[in-house]
Amino acid sequence: MKHLISPLDLSVSELEEVLNLGQEILKNKAKYSDICKGKKLATLFYEPSTRTRLSFEAAMLNLGGKVLGFSSADSSSASKGESVADTIRVISSYADICAMRHPKEGAPTVAAMHSKIPVINAGDGGHNHPTQTLTDLFTIKQLKGRLDNLVIGMCGDLKFGRTVHSLINAMVRYENVRFILVSPNELRIPDYLRQEVLVAGNINFIETNELEKYMPELDILYMTRVQRERFFNEEDYIRLKDSFILDAEKMKYAKEDMYVLHPLPRVNEIAAEVDNDPRAVYFKQAEFGVYVRMALIMTLLGLS
Ligand code: CP
Repeated sequence: MKHLISPLDLSVSELEEVLNLGQEILKNKAKYSDICKGKKLATLFYEPSTRTRLSFEAAMLNLGGKVLGFSSADSSSASKGESVADTIRVISSYADICAMRHPKEGAPTVAAMHSKIPVINAGDGGHNHPTQTLTDLFTIKQLKGRLDNLVIGMCGDLKFGRTVHSLINAMVRYENVRFILVSPNELRIPDYLRQEVLVAGNINFIETNELEKYMPELDILYMTRVQRERFFNEEDYIRLKDSFILDAEKMKYAKEDMYVLHPLPRVNEIAAEVDNDPRAVYFKQAEFGVYVRMALIMTLLGLS
């Protein structure tokens, strides 16, 4: 049995297989509409979500399976003090696979240690969000046709943004990927990522607070929200939340084939006027998330 806790739990070739299966499903949805008949997915969400939870549920329903779960800690027995370990022991006898989101880093790892079914990390604190990474890689591959030889800009909250951490970890495995990391000084990537992943891996990267200057170089711009829920201090959030706003004026500096991704939800870091630009692909990206999660569920259930 295999779990997906970090994007690195899949080797590059396993990841390639999941992405290829996602592409196959996208082309031929009907062929896969019954493949999970009789299987159940549990969604254990201790933290709010729209896309991840509902795209997991849509994915399982599209595969002919069923779904059960909870969407907040308050509506589960976590509110009475039940541990993640005890919860997963019980859920293991109710479902065949589960997706867990939790505010504490490492909670899905604890769940996996006590689980009889595959556990998928659907986001743990500021740590990892591997299925968002699968979605991001799927989107980049669909639109650019490759995952290597890319200049990737990442902009916004790079300190707490788990989608950024997961995506960097996944992308450094491909040849000639360069990162332009755009953030206020206070929201730069964590030191472990800078030292242990980028510096140690001899990866080409720069950290800057100048978005316009680097726009013409980018193949991908990955925008992120400054996350109010991760700040200890409301004043810091208010000071930093509008540090970078992508608007039509800034898009003029970008290449014709540069794509803007965002894991969503957005607040105001991308002006609504950008939505109509054909290079703004964040809603398409959210749609692709369903196909790649279908592929992942099939893979972890041994049905691929
Ligand atoms: N991208 C993402 O994780 O969105 P949700 O928080 O809505 O699941």
